[in-house]
Amino acid sequence: MAQLWGGRFTKETDQLVYNFNASISFDRKFYRQDIQGSMAHVRMLAKQNILTEEEKEQILEGLAGILEDVEKGTLEITDEYEDIHSFVEANLIDRIGDAGKKLHTGRSRNDQVALDMKLYTRDEVLEIDALLKGLLETILRLMEENLDTYMPGFTHLQKAQPITFAHHAGAYFEMFKRDRQRLGDIYRRMNLCPLGSGALAGTTYPLDREYTAELLNFDGTTLNSMDSVADRDYLIELLSALSTIMMHLSRFSEEIIIWNSNEYQFVELDDAYSTGSSIMPQKKNPDIAELVRGKTGRVYGALISLLTTMKGIPLAYNKDMQEDKELTFDAIDTVKGCIALFNGMIGTMKLNRERMEGSAKNGFTNATDAADYLVNHGIPFRDAHGIVGRLVLYCIEKNISLDEMTLEEYQAISPVFQEDIYEAISLKTCVEKRTTIGAPGREAMSRVIEKNREYLKD
Ligand code: ARG
Repeated sequence: MAQLWGGRFTKETDQLVYNFNASISFDRKFYRQDIQGSMAHVRMLAKQNILTEEEKEQILEGLAGILEDVEKGTLEITDEYEDIHSFVEANLIDRIGDAGKKLHTGRSRNDQVALDMKLYTRDEVLEIDALLKGLLETILRLMEENLDTYMPGFTHLQKAQPITFAHHAGAYFEMFKRDRQRLGDIYRRMNLCPLGSGALAGTTYPLDREYTAELLNFDGTTLNSMDSVADRDYLIELLSALSTIMMHLSRFSEEIIIWNSNEYQFVELDDAYSTGSSIMPQKKNPDIAELVRGKTGRVYGALISLLTTMKGIPLAYNKDMQEDKELTFDAIDTVKGCIALFNGMIGTMKLNRERMEGSAKNGFTNATDAADYLVNHGIPFRDAHGIVGRLVLYCIEKNISLDEMTLEEYQAISPVFQEDIYEAISLKTCVEKRTTIGAPGREAMSRVIEKNREYLKD
């Protein structure tokens, strides 16, 4: 057991207590950020004449050595230390002796861990953002390639009106775009440095907190030392944003599972992104989409878990807060994995355009347009709705589509119908006449694609 305290204790820590308390098994994940934070702290201490230049150089060199050895794999982070902070400090003292004992001057593990976790998540937010950007590139490509891939749009999972695959994919483009904006908001709000807050009440040393913040690329310092060590809002916000990303991925996954089913066959997932059955030789299952859908629960769980952990904690730091780490790490890794796999899956899936178009043609997705045709010929919409309802009933009885009715059959129900009804309810017309911004018509979609291309440039 290697711990940073013990002076006031007369007994060894019970081994079970030690194990229960220790965090090294997971906080080793931010060894890099811990060292980075210590380096900034030491530079600031020297600038303020709390450490000598020589001590600073010695410590920086020692820390750089630890970082290098860990990255090379010659120094292993083992469970013999209580946490990553103890590991680094003990190693530093081993390497450089007495100067190493000055590293922790004007610092507590409370502000240290608050800093480390912020530095770690800040890096991860950027990585997740980059993954989302990659996913958006794929979605935009699918949009560009499928401006006239007609398919039914659904409400209640019932065929509603014809759209295009570009339009459907475009809905997800907007969702993931908002997800990136949310991450940006979180980044901006969290980007204040907590170091220098001490255990809870600041320190008596003349620290230059602004300088430390600047060295670590923060926009400034936090303004209340109690809040600095007790704030995990940014993690809750992040977990909420990650949950929303997963919710979007899960909805898209659900649709792909449906589209990939034998009944729909709108898409076919690539062999590389499908799995087989151990017993049924014919099976090709969409396991990746199912796993993405399934892992959504786990990320929601992290959010609820942290909210619950935080709700009863009196100011300032309490050990409960150590629970923030495993679940945040797990949620981040889960989301990163899911975005990457999902991107690969939709980037390689094959679209079955005939099936989609055929499905759009059946199911009366052009019924609204038939009603609009009557409205354009002077019939009030409510009456038009009734007339087309009768047309649909007639078709269902005869097992035909609206396009397959003869003009005589149309006119028997309403004399307003003329030869141009066929043109007015063709799939192409139904889609292309929808030209307002946000609608599926090619013209409107092209404008949206152009805007989104611009957006992806910065
Ligand atoms: N492992 C602790 C955590 O993750 C670090 C802070 C420990 N502070 C303390 N006073 N024991 O929260």
